[in-house]
Amino acid sequence: MRSKLLADVLAKVLYEVEVRRASLDIAFKKVCRGSYVKGLDRREELYRTVRKFVSDYHKLMCCVERGVSYRGLARLWLEGRYVPPNAVHCTYSYPKWFVDELLKVLDLGELVEVLKAMNERVWWLRINTLLSSEEGVLRRLELEGVEYVVSKEVPYMVRVLSSRKPVRLLGVVKEFKAVPQDLSSAAVVEALKPSPDDHIVDLASAPGMKTSLIMMLCENRGRVVACDKSLRRLAVMKDLLRRFGVDLSRVTLVHTDSTYLTCRRFDKALVDAPCSNSGAIGKDPGIKISLTRGKVLRNASTQLKMVCSALRLAGYVTFSTCSILPDEGEFVISGLDLSGLRLLRPIDWVGSGYSVVDFYGSVMRLMPHKNLCEGFFIAVLTSK
Ligand SMILES: C[S@@+](CC[C@H](N)C(=O)[O-])C[C@H]1O[C@@H](n2cnc3c(N)ncnc32)[C@H](O)[C@@H]1O
Repeated sequence: MRSKLLADVLAKVLYEVEVRRASLDIAFKKVCRGSYVKGLDRREELYRTVRKFVSDYHKLMCCVERGVSYRGLARLWLEGRYVPPNAVHCTYSYPKWFVDELLKVLDLGELVEVLKAMNERVWWLRINTLLSSEEGVLRRLELEGVEYVVSKEVPYMVRVLSSRKPVRLLGVVKEFKAVPQDLSSAAVVEALKPSPDDHIVDLASAPGMKTSLIMMLCENRGRVVACDKSLRRLAVMKDLLRRFGVDLSRVTLVHTDSTYLTCRRFDKALVDAPCSNSGAIGKDPGIKISLTRGKVLRNASTQLKMVCSALRLAGYVTFSTCSILPDEGEFVISGLDLSGLRLLRPIDWVGSGYSVVDFYGSVMRLMPHKNLCEGFFIAVLTSK
């Protein structure tokens, strides 16, 4: 692709990400609809270039005055005419405030490992045992030339090392026998320990990735009330659950604000709360651009309300966020009155929380550089 045209694509994608708050994938799809490149390989190559450019945004911003146009930034990047100053946030391309916040909970060496890990994409697949056996899916992956490792801790989770085709185009993925889902997401449901006798409420359920895993682990015999504030996401969820082979007669979708729920009792509650998604930067580097301190604090306030709501509904609550920041993890838990509550660690292969709170050993954090997955916080609360 000619460099003028490429600069044009990069500038348009950056505009979609920064101004319209689109995810990288949505921005890429919108900008590169049809005409720019022909053929799957070329399109994938263009995607990788766009991803790297978006990921390098903060590095570039360390080198220019404010007010440079998106096209100007794209040309600068393509020509390599910039030398970032020697500061961690510039070298690894993150907002300065974000790096400063992480330095309060991690030493410099570990922080650099985390930042580097989140600049890479890691792919996990969940074998959907509602539609196929584990062996069946692994055989199909081998036939499609996929190199993988099966998780030691969660045998239905597979990390893709290399694939000839983009993961979304693999046969088993198109047939929903394998679902792109991160290991951290599976860890959340493992911590919930769903069983077929359980009646579970999922307070922030759409688009249903964790609800569908709950149903898979219960072999379609559990019962879930799945709530969400977004009608659009609930509609997507209904369709996904059906395609994943979930028995829809056992899942009730409820359109509601879950911050102030008080109703009947459930056995267990899951609060996979809305958050800044700062743990998922590896999946979408555009998050580095849309992330603000205000967004983190607003989400943290909603998370606290949702956990309080969940504690009114069930005696066993799993709270999770896809965030690497303590404000959306440890500090939410310290906002609770813990005197009548107990924190549990039902899975032993996930590390502890940040040691900025005295209960850090009783909560869990998946770290991108250690667990090779998204950054996630998990806490399990029961009443004493
Ligand atoms: C992290 S996503 C949930 C992902 C889902 N658990 C899954 O695994 O597919 C957070 C969800 O919370 C929903 N949400 C945000 N605020 C809410 C509220 N006050 N009440 C209920 N749902 C809310 C959003 O619409 C979004 O679908």
